[in-house]
Amino acid sequence: MIILRLFCILGAAGVEWGERVPYLVGRMNPSPLKRDLETCLAEARPAAHEFSIGHRGACLEFPEHTKESYEAAISQGAGTVECDVAVTADGEFVCRHSRCDLDETTNILATPLAGKCDGTCCTTDITLEEFKSLSGTNDRSCGTLLSHRESIELIKSAGRSFAPELKKYRGPLDYDHLRRKLVDEYVAAGVDSSLVQLQSFDRNDVDFWIREYPQFGSRAVLLDSSKCDGSMAGCPQISNFSAWKASGINYYAPSYRSLLGHDNRPSDLAIAAKRAGLEIIAWTIESSRDDKESVVVFEILHALAQDVGVRSVFSDWPATSTFYANCQLAGFPS
Ligand SMILES: *[C@@H]1O[C@H](CO)[C@@H](O)[C@H](O)[C@H]1NC(C)=O
Repeated sequence: MIILRLFCILGAAGVEWGERVPYLVGRMNPSPLKRDLETCLAEARPAAHEFSIGHRGACLEFPEHTKESYEAAISQGAGTVECDVAVTADGEFVCRHSRCDLDETTNILATPLAGKCDGTCCTTDITLEEFKSLSGTNDRSCGTLLSHRESIELIKSAGRSFAPELKKYRGPLDYDHLRRKLVDEYVAAGVDSSLVQLQSFDRNDVDFWIREYPQFGSRAVLLDSSKCDGSMAGCPQISNFSAWKASGINYYAPSYRSLLGHDNRPSDLAIAAKRAGLEIIAWTIESSRDDKESVVVFEILHALAQDVGVRSVFSDWPATSTFYANCQLAGFPS
């Protein structure tokens, strides 16, 4: 019986939805969508899906940007797994959300390397070897830290796609060197550009990739950190979107909140970006144990997928968006 049940939860390639997905479906208010999702819980087979992006892995539970977090994202069916790319003192790339978060996301303060922290603990203060001697931590568990190269091997061996984000850097190296090195690590690992979406909040990074590496550049993602409400005040405007598109930018990634207006209808921002011909990627659902969001997370995904027409969604718990996609969208797009 137990063996049978295990077999039932594990679908294609070991993808599983786990316990949170039925919990979230159960919390929804009654609706046709809820009925469809309940049917899928009983009948659909879990499979990886490009709609689902693992944000820092599956960091709702696992220490972010660790082997364990990435493996969880993979088994939750994330079609793409994100490594945020920070630079070490010896110029190597490691997966960390920001350059100076080591005191919050690793055990550095409990190690002799704490002596290298000067107020803040930054990747640029330690070498790759020193970084690898630390553990990733959150308030629940520990995890194995990864270099960017190791993340490529892990994600590649699972057959998933890549979304490295070049983070802000402060140090002696020049940005063009870092921009080049990021692409070179994929080329050296034999990864085809069609599987990589380079990302940055910095327009200059994206412009560089478009100019120097057109195949990678045409898939690069311009991230938007503006906290606009979708009404266009303080947001990029339609003229910005058309200018980006004309300069070769094809992918635009704002917060999902700025894509949805009243009653979860597409915001003016979403409509303008679409009209300019940009592909939209939304960040980030499941980013906290936000009770209000968790009741409506499938309605949010439905509005993003069906009405806004986003290509994919970042999630701190990718099983949620994998399940939605398995249930409501066509299979793994090529
Ligand atoms: C949008 O375009 C205006 C006018 O060219 C420019 O001043 C502004 O910085 C642009 N905004 C963004 C977010 O690119």
